[in-house]
Amino acid sequence: MPTLKIPQKKLELNVESGKNLMDALIEGGLPVASSCLGEGICSKCAVKMTPQGTRTELEIRTMERNKQPDTMRLCCQVFVEHDLIVETTYW
Ligand code: FES
Repeated sequence: MPTLKIPQKKLELNVESGKNLMDALIEGGLPVASSCLGEGICSKCAVKMTPQGTRTELEIRTMERNKQPDTMRLCCQVFVEHDLIVETTYW
């Protein structure tokens, strides 16, 4: 079972493998910015994730359009397969 480490909150969450990262964070009590309800359009859910993994084509297009740095991931488009460290600017 993967663990999400949230250093800004001194929090660790165990999540089912394959779970959507945005859903896991919200269920863990963390607010996630969004105006597209996880459709991969708004870029507001962008997080710094370590390891970063590979961005999807949708993430690349959306983040280029919204001028997001390529060091971020859209958490609504990530499915947790292994331990991750997750950070945002607003936690
Ligand atoms: S919630 Fe809008 S891009 Fe992820």
